[in-house]
Amino acid sequence: MNLHQTQTPPSAPSSASPSAPPPVDWEALRADFPILDRQVNGRPLVYLDNAATSQKPLAVIEAIERYYRSDNANVHRGFHELSNRATAAYEGARARVARFLNARGPDEIIWTRGTTESINLVANAWGAANLRPGDSILLTEMEHHSNLVPWQLAARRAGARLVYLPVTGDDGLLDLRRLDALLVPPVKLFAFTHVSNTLGTVNPVSALCAHARERGIVTVVDAAQSAGHLPVDVQAIGCDFLAFSGHKICGPTGIGALCGRRELLDQMPPWQGGGDMISSVDFFESQWDAVPHKFEAGTPNIAGAIGMAAAIDYIEAIGRDHIFAHDQELAAYAVTGLREIPGLRLFGPPEHRAGVVSFLLDDIHAHDVVTVADRFGVALRGGHHCNQPLMRKLGIVSTARASFYFYNTAAEVDRLIEVLLEIRKFFGGA
Ligand code: ALA
Repeated sequence: MNLHQTQTPPSAPSSASPSAPPPVDWEALRADFPILDRQVNGRPLVYLDNAATSQKPLAVIEAIERYYRSDNANVHRGFHELSNRATAAYEGARARVARFLNARGPDEIIWTRGTTESINLVANAWGAANLRPGDSILLTEMEHHSNLVPWQLAARRAGARLVYLPVTGDDGLLDLRRLDALLVPPVKLFAFTHVSNTLGTVNPVSALCAHARERGIVTVVDAAQSAGHLPVDVQAIGCDFLAFSGHKICGPTGIGALCGRRELLDQMPPWQGGGDMISSVDFFESQWDAVPHKFEAGTPNIAGAIGMAAAIDYIEAIGRDHIFAHDQELAAYAVTGLREIPGLRLFGPPEHRAGVVSFLLDDIHAHDVVTVADRFGVALRGGHHCNQPLMRKLGIVSTARASFYFYNTAAEVDRLIEVLLEIRKFFGGA
């Protein structure tokens, strides 16, 4: 088995070839994000909590405002001008998501509130049709609660059990030597993250999906931390389902998508009932609309879908291969600086990590690190990052985490290191 732990990282933008696009002016992009200009606690904001949510460029803010100012109406319901315009924008946004993921078509894209709801949809609807007592679901020890708790609920409903592919330790890699033994019947479904929100590990998703497919096992990829950061092509990955959120890719909160293989979506029952998901309703029986509408009951988040499409336009104009190269450069630079700090324990792979860096500073609680960093204007996240089982496995309760996006700079990483040295002094470190 030839399973490399990471996807081959795209090469950094080069100016060597005459046909190469001009290098991205990362500093200039910062001007598109009004929030990056603000001060926090009297200091310039250094926003390093992008794994939790990204900031929004003017293009997204204005697209949402434009919709509410001039086109607001409900979709799929009216025959008046505004309803037609809203429907065209909403369905156009679905087609934009399909192109973003290289889905086979817009009908493979279902709007949801985000990654969590997308995974709950699969766990409920696919689970109801396919999970039986005695079946197993394979997860990994690095899953976010959103790719773990829905499967616990589905397993309980069906009388199935959960099995876990282990993580090796502080270096945060999947123990792929165990895969062949675990990816076997009665496993029916394998759900795993593309990029770990705590460790920054980039998992070899295409190879994992290929192994599952050979064994007839359905795959679910959690792309919450990858979709806005590196090229994600569902056909190249070969997954059955892929979930992601708008707010982590410069779009608004409360909107996301599930991309699913059409033949599987067709076989799945709806998971929520209501308006817009039916073709006909009688007092005792109803007929469902076709995919994707079968899974979209009620008035959807129209402005959110439009904002998400604007975000996709924005980040695709930069290029996700460029974004990933930039994220990786910042993460590598941060790791080099963090390693110099005495008493700092780093988590995650030594190389090829995404722009996510978790650490502990001496025995200072991660919440204290984050609270004091905030006084210096540096926004980090501290806690279990919705990875409690992983924390237990690593023998810790929390980490502090810096997570980068394309508008972050090397100067901000320098500021992070400076502030961590101050914090260490403040807490009495030698
Ligand atoms: N999943 C997001 C994070 O890791 C909220 O911070």
